Amino acid sequence: MPRMRKRIWIVVVTFVIGISADVSPPEEPYLDYENKRLPQGAIITLKEWQVLILKCVTENSSPIRRIQWFLETTNVSSHGKLFTEFLPGNETYLSWSLLSLNITRTFDRKELVCFVSHESWAQPATAGVSLNVLYGPTFSISRIPGFGIPVIEGMFVSLRCDVDANPPSDPLWLKDESPQVSTEGYLNFTFITREHAGWYKCTTEHLFGYFGSFGYFLNVRYGAEIVEEPPKEVEAETGSSVDLECQADGKPIPSYCWARVRDADRIEGIGTGKKLHLDHVHYEDAGRYKCIASNSIGYKYVSAQTRDVKIDVKGKPEVTPLNRTLLAIAGKSALIFVRYCSNPRPYRSHWIVRHLVISPGEIRFGYTAYNVTPLATPNCFRVALMISRVSPEDGGEILFFVKNRKGIDDAVILLNITQASYSISECSTNSWRTQDAILLFITFAMLAAWGESKSCFLGS
Ligand SMILES: *[C@@H]1O[C@H](CO)[C@@H](O)[C@H](O)[C@H]1NC(C)=O
Ligand SMILES: *[C@@H]1O[C@H](CO)[C@@H](O)[C@H](O)[C@H]1NC(C)=O
Ligand SMILES: *[C@@H]1O[C@H](CO)[C@@H](O)[C@H](O)[C@H]1NC(C)=O
Ligand SMILES: *[C@@H]1O[C@H](CO)[C@@H](O)[C@H](O)[C@H]1NC(C)=O
Ligand SMILES: *[C@@H]1O[C@H](CO)[C@@H](O)[C@H](O)[C@H]1NC(C)=O
Ligand SMILES: *[C@@H]1O[C@H](CO)[C@@H](O)[C@H](O)[C@H]1NC(C)=O
Repeated sequence: MPRMRKRIWIVVVTFVIGISADVSPPEEPYLDYENKRLPQGAIITLKEWQVLILKCVTENSSPIRRIQWFLETTNVSSHGKLFTEFLPGNETYLSWSLLSLNITRTFDRKELVCFVSHESWAQPATAGVSLNVLYGPTFSISRIPGFGIPVIEGMFVSLRCDVDANPPSDPLWLKDESPQVSTEGYLNFTFITREHAGWYKCTTEHLFGYFGSFGYFLNVRYGAEIVEEPPKEVEAETGSSVDLECQADGKPIPSYCWARVRDADRIEGIGTGKKLHLDHVHYEDAGRYKCIASNSIGYKYVSAQTRDVKIDVKGKPEVTPLNRTLLAIAGKSALIFVRYCSNPRPYRSHWIVRHLVISPGEIRFGYTAYNVTPLATPNCFRVALMISRVSPEDGGEILFFVKNRKGIDDAVILLNITQASYSISECSTNSWRTQDAILLFITFAMLAAWGESKSCFLGS
């Protein structure tokens, strides 16, 4: 320790003398690595995160005031430490800067230079070395189209893997762990299909070992498509239930909608989801149905439809009075409507008024049973009974019944008669029963164009 202190003292004194008096020019600096003098243009090979210890030495001079270090243009002098030693034999000084630098891959292929400044030199003298930094691979994966843009079936897609490593190492693509043929890191799909979807990973065999990137899932979208058509026709008994299922494929998973086809171009949504369940089927449920599957691929909306499914409803007749209770005025006409549905077709359907049994299409004693009119619902009809002049005896229950192979049903209409004002009853008694033939004629006329003629007939 005391010797050291003495030496420092000498350094300071000599320094002062050095400036004012004799200045011997130093020798050119050189770099010392692992106790070996490096030749000009030398290359040092290191691993990343290794600490480089390098000396920049100047001999035979008065003490050196400053040695600076630069890595290309970056000042790294703060990592260096200046030392000076007096060599009594030569009466000169040995100066060196000890650089200790934690190496990163960014230093690869860069030049590390020390600048030694001495008052006898106009310019600092330099000594340099090139660095060769060995580092393990890092992967960068890019894609055309860019990430975030949905990949749709049929597109051109290019996956690219860049491996940054020293020594350089070649990328190898794996799809679901099996190697893929690629050139220069490119995995190109001129027409991508759903089969190309999967986990992709870039790997490399490097000096430091085997490395792999994160797995990347390539999702290939495609529009909804029906994969299985539902049956063309479904037959259901009234009261039973019907289940239909829609089978579609697509990425993203399609959403489903079941609809009822009302007309050629009018459909009515009746439920979402793959399955359509109709509970307790009625005649009203008969008709055409279809399923629509849709998804959105990118900014495009795609939908696919099944063919129409015809639901045919069969069962015993269902008869519904359209007027349950009808208030009729004696002497005036009354019109009664009934709706019925029957599949198979009825083999019997009758009105029962008082003691009379009247079938649609018949006219008897002032009672006109109109022909059946088909309604919008398949197998459903409307029938009407016209009583030309209501008499008090008509009051009470009027029945309409329908019978088919599967059963029978009826409707009961209650006819409630009120007495009309004198003049009208007078008028009605005149024409009713006394002139049946005329009445029959008038009823026929009315059948041809009832509505207008009704008021005409009543007014006369
Ligand atoms: C070098 O730097 C890295 C990152 O800062 C650090 O993890 C490592 O321990 C350092 N190495 C040494 C020898 O200091
Ligand atoms: C380099 O850095 C050192 C200290 O870290 C500083 O003293 C010196 O002036 C710097 N040199 C240049 C040229 O910036
Ligand atoms: C000091 O001088 C001796 C001979 O005088 C020489 O051999 C030696 O290389 C010199 N030392 C240095 C560091 O130059
Ligand atoms: C793959 O596609 C990219 C981008 O279009 C192109 O630069 C590259 O040359 C293609 N590579 C091959 C092997 O086709
Ligand atoms: C009978 O029902 C039909 C259909 O609901 C209706 O249009 C008609 O006005 C009703 N008749 C009477 C007299 O209530
Ligand atoms: C018939 O109509 C009258 C008057 O509106 C009413 O008081 C009576 O309860 C009705 N009768 C029936 C059986 O509906």
